[in-house]
Amino acid sequence: MNPLFTPVRIGRLVAPNRVLMAPMTRSRASEDGIVGDLTVTYYAQRASAGLIITEGVFPSALGKGYVNTPGIETPAQVAAWRKVTEAVHARGGRIFMQLMHCGRVSHPSLLNGQTPVAPSAIQPVGQAWTPAGQVDFVTPRALGLEEIAEVIDDYRQATRRALDAGFDGVELHAASGYLPEQFLSSGSNQRTDLYGGSVENRARFVLEVLDAMTVEAGADRVGIKISPEMNYNSITDAAPQETYTYLVGQLRERGLAYLHVALFGNPAVDYHAVLRPLFNGTYLMGSGLTQESAEKLLQDQQADAAVFGAPFLANPDLPERFRVGAALNAPDRNTFFAPPTAKGYIDYPALVPAPAA
Ligand SMILES: Cc1cc2nc3c(=O)[nH]c(=O)nc-3n(C[C@H](O)[C@H](O)[C@H](O)COP(=O)(O)O)c2cc1C
Repeated sequence: MNPLFTPVRIGRLVAPNRVLMAPMTRSRASEDGIVGDLTVTYYAQRASAGLIITEGVFPSALGKGYVNTPGIETPAQVAAWRKVTEAVHARGGRIFMQLMHCGRVSHPSLLNGQTPVAPSAIQPVGQAWTPAGQVDFVTPRALGLEEIAEVIDDYRQATRRALDAGFDGVELHAASGYLPEQFLSSGSNQRTDLYGGSVENRARFVLEVLDAMTVEAGADRVGIKISPEMNYNSITDAAPQETYTYLVGQLRERGLAYLHVALFGNPAVDYHAVLRPLFNGTYLMGSGLTQESAEKLLQDQQADAAVFGAPFLANPDLPERFRVGAALNAPDRNTFFAPPTAKGYIDYPALVPAPAA
């Protein structure tokens, strides 16, 4: 039997297949962070995924980091997301929301003039995507201790609202150089208090956020994504193997729905081999997978499920295409982030056209 098409437990859920959809920012929300009807159709078209993980969603306005990204803070944002979850569930699907706080990887023009926040006031190298195009990152403001508690509580409240909007669970985005990884990594965290210095202190923020999300959802509806040594958004760590070994060791007893690990480039260490044995729950592996490589890693029990990004973006019926061995549509990079029209968003053809959402 093809291992991609056997059921897999994801916390409280059982997914009917192991072809999962990766979180992907598409920048099609309104300026107020509200998703529209095209987004309802986009996710509904992909409901055959074992699990959909949404694009990164800001838990609070200060977490926004890209133009036209969606939020889960206001009642209007919640109401709009409810249409998405209802459409996905009506098609028999399952959907988690990814909570993404960009921290220092943002810009005042996205934050009503406020300075982006971070563990330490260290300017990242690179540029933010703003309404005025790409602009250099600024030096962020270091969060005070009380503010850290507030940001953690923002994640808790966002989790509550995601559940109210009908999501089956929430994923903490602790990858790609955003706020949680800014705390984890020694290059962006030079605090001398409880949240910086030792690996125990640098991991504290991530673990406290997960625990706050768990208060609302239960651990079996909370997942986490990490990307050791991704080298993105100017993130660096002096001893990543030690950092991630400690972190995943701490996740072990928490009973989370899953650990999602995406590796990019060629890290010196095979993190899947190092981290998977440290975790006792469902292990999701993503990044650069093909049907063939995914089948092999499942056969070899290197992971419990495979997460596909660009292939799912371009193929709304990706599991069916894998099942029948059909050719894949190629993703069009020019429309990864684009104004909210059908083009490059909901017009990738399925093998069998789906009924209207
Ligand atoms: C257009 C696009 C947007 C992405 N946005 C996010 C995001 O919001 N959150 C996240 O965790 N990863 C994001 N990613 C990374 C994907 O989740 C995934 O890890 C990556 O694409 C590698 O998988 P793939 O080779 O199957 O595409 C994005 C990727 C793409 C292509």
